Amino acid sequence: LSSVGAAMRRPFVAANWKMHKTVAESVTYAHAVVPLVEAITDVDIVVAPPFLALPAMADALADSRIKVASQNVHAASHGAFTGEVSLEMLQGSGVTVVIIGHSERRQLFGETDAGVNAKTRATVGAGLTSIVCVGETLEEREANRTFDILDRQVRDGLAGLSPEQVATQVVAYEPVWAIGTGRNATPDQANEAHRHIRQQLVSQFGDSAAACRVIYGGSVKPGNVAELVGQSEVDGALVGGASLDPTSFSEIVAGSRSTAI
Ligand code: 13P
Repeated sequence: LSSVGAAMRRPFVAANWKMHKTVAESVTYAHAVVPLVEAITDVDIVVAPPFLALPAMADALADSRIKVASQNVHAASHGAFTGEVSLEMLQGSGVTVVIIGHSERRQLFGETDAGVNAKTRATVGAGLTSIVCVGETLEEREANRTFDILDRQVRDGLAGLSPEQVATQVVAYEPVWAIGTGRNATPDQANEAHRHIRQQLVSQFGDSAAACRVIYGGSVKPGNVAELVGQSEVDGALVGGASLDPTSFSEIVAGSRSTAI
């Protein structure tokens, strides 16, 4: 399963800026990063700025291979949801990828698996690509509950998608204890978790779901990306802090090619 599948899964690297950069700073970044990754044609590259910068980023990246992602979305098409943004609004601003259920949204903004599922179904149904984030806390890992947590988040988060839809989505494994801490999962820890996630996808949706890319997030840097993405089950990276600098991000994109065929 893994060796055959891994050869078919194209590396996918996404920058999650979180709450960083003004519109002007975002455009400066876009102009800087394009020439740095121009020659890397065998990696899917995505940048997720804050909502406000999405239209300007989509414009600045329109002639590049870099896709623009939002960091969140509301599942409903429209309505009395103060402060929220719909899929139609995102699509109208050039967004084709949506990050869903990031651990910061789960922990700080009360997002649940049911909410993640509603957003994922709406996003995929509208023809966009979802990056569904899963991952255990340190407490859960130390209590040997990692696999149970991952199973639940994958099962409930992706419920209702068709096998064909799952095959084209992205799941991000982000152990909460590795986010913003400088303490990345070891390559073995990541590979083990990714293998488990892929097994859950296959048992839930059938063999074709093995094509779903499972990317790693949590203290990814230029210096550790090759070893992480070099693992058979790790198909790319979701990068926070080290994605804020265009040179650092481009080095991470380049470093993820070690698995490219
Ligand atoms: P860091 O790369 O800053 O650890 O953040 C990871 C992350 O949460 C990406 O979504």
